[in-house]
Amino acid sequence: MRIGIIGGTGNMGRGLAVRFVKRHIVMIGSRRREKAEETARSLMRYAKGFYQSEMEAEIIFITLPPKAVIPTLSGASSTRSR
Ligand SMILES: NC(=O)c1ccc[n+]([C@@H]2O[C@H](COP(=O)([O-])OP(=O)(O)OC[C@H]3O[C@@H](n4cnc5c(N)ncnc54)[C@H](OP(=O)(O)O)[C@@H]3O)[C@@H](O)[C@H]2O)c1
Repeated sequence: MRIGIIGGTGNMGRGLAVRFVKRHIVMIGSRRREKAEETARSLMRYAKGFYQSEMEAEIIFITLPPKAVIPTLSGASSTRSR
């Protein structure tokens, strides 16, 4: 399964990533692609870093400071609906 983590460069995001990467494809999201790539490299071999609005995943975790959630998600979109 592809798991995306918005705010994946922070403490909570990295903590989730190291656990999920054993069984899933993990996509670390950041406002800066280079930071996401650096975090992915520093944590684990099979994770990848993305500018977070470009992530396509089946499950997305949001590990942002509370004040950043609405401003960040107002620019997000979904390609699937149930
Ligand atoms: N850390 C803990 O032990 C812990 C425990 C329980 C609950 N939580 C909760 O988990 C959530 C994440 O905590 P955290 O400690 O991992 O947070 P954090 O490290 O402060 O931030 C996570 C990421 O959010 C992005 N970010 C920071 N400020 C932003 C802003 N103003 N606008 C947009 N993005 C911003 C940054 O990513 P980029 O710069 O790469 O974009 C940062 O790496 C919070 O809601 C916190 O209350 C944390």
